[in-house]
Amino acid sequence: MAGPSRKTWGFELSVVILGLLALTQQSMQQSSKHPMHELIQRIHNQGPFFGLVLGSDADERALLANNAFKNIGEIIELAGRKFNAGTINGSSVIYVKAGDGPSINAAITAQLLVIFFAPKGIIHIGRAGTVNDSLSIGDVVVPKEVGFLGNWKWLRGKRGQLVFGEYNTPAPGGNLLGSISFQPTTLYATGKNKTTIFWLPLTSDWLEAASQLENLELEQCISKDKCLPKAPVILNGLRASSSDIYIQNKAYREFIYKQFKASTVDTQSAAEILVALSSDVPIIVFTGISNTAGGSSSHTSFSDLASVNAVKAAVAFIAAVGNSNSSLEVADN
Ligand SMILES: *[C@@H]1O[C@H](CO)[C@@H](O)[C@H](O)[C@H]1NC(C)=O
Ligand SMILES: *[C@@H]1O[C@H](CO)[C@@H](O)[C@H](O)[C@H]1NC(C)=O
Ligand SMILES: *[C@@H]1O[C@H](CO)[C@@H](O)[C@H](O)[C@H]1NC(C)=O
Ligand SMILES: *[C@@H]1O[C@H](CO)[C@@H](O)[C@H](O)[C@H]1NC(C)=O
Repeated sequence: MAGPSRKTWGFELSVVILGLLALTQQSMQQSSKHPMHELIQRIHNQGPFFGLVLGSDADERALLANNAFKNIGEIIELAGRKFNAGTINGSSVIYVKAGDGPSINAAITAQLLVIFFAPKGIIHIGRAGTVNDSLSIGDVVVPKEVGFLGNWKWLRGKRGQLVFGEYNTPAPGGNLLGSISFQPTTLYATGKNKTTIFWLPLTSDWLEAASQLENLELEQCISKDKCLPKAPVILNGLRASSSDIYIQNKAYREFIYKQFKASTVDTQSAAEILVALSSDVPIIVFTGISNTAGGSSSHTSFSDLASVNAVKAAVAFIAAVGNSNSSLEVADN
């Protein structure tokens, strides 16, 4: 069984990759009509820049509404993604939207960014649900590590970490679904043997720089008289989780918090971190809390503050590291 199915999968994968190459080549060829090669070259000439990967349209709206971002109106389209050139605080940036699910779309976007534009690092700006009751909508989490919780091995009985029978009502017991064991992520990286890793680390020098932003003032109001009871904050040093699942379930949210000590759930960050680790590119993640993944439903109307504040934190981060050489030192290690 394993032999033939492996062959089929290999074939499908190569079709996907050939398709992707064809798409990008097509864009590059079209570009010689509208001198896109020249454009990429010009962007490279503007010095090393940050690659901003935005989670969604809401994050793009928040970026465009932030006064620090200057759009220079140059757009390069590759494989259906628009790479937009601009500046923040005098540093060159290129932003692109990760794309909707599954998270493989975010990985493709990040990989295109790395291959075609060689950014000095990736800054992810997005939204997440919180599974940690100490966090509130509008807060920004800068995780120190992210676990991918979508790589499952289904087991008989109760050997896995998530045992379905424990969630039977009215009383826990056995059931036919058995249990799930959460598998680590396989990491392929240049010059290294493949390894497996559960907690994907973010770039330590960048985390250090971000930890200086704790006193940054974040937005608390969505209109003059509609404000959160308490000012949102930036939280460093927490764990995040990522998967291809949009979670709105109280029992599963509590499981993630207890089992993994993760504070947030999102659907993009792990994919982008994996790309960055594979290519040895620095990466940091700014996630705004937009929902509670099935917990308390208060303050849900403030979810747009998640994007506004994640952008605000990322802009302050770029202002802090953009004009120093520290980010380049990171890229060299
Ligand atoms: C860049 O950010 C620094 C620090 O926040 C600030 O003092 C400076 O005025 C900003 N410069 C520009 C061009 O926005
Ligand atoms: C990869 O693994 C092989 C076999 O275990 C070992 O000989 C080699 O040194 C490893 N290479 C690296 C770069 O770690
Ligand atoms: C939940 O968030 C609070 C507030 O930031 C933090 O102190 C706590 O360590 C977090 N819990 C876990 C398990 O990380
Ligand atoms: C960054 O490095 C360049 C070249 O080494 C140097 O000329 C420049 O002064 C440095 N800038 C800062 C802000 O340290």
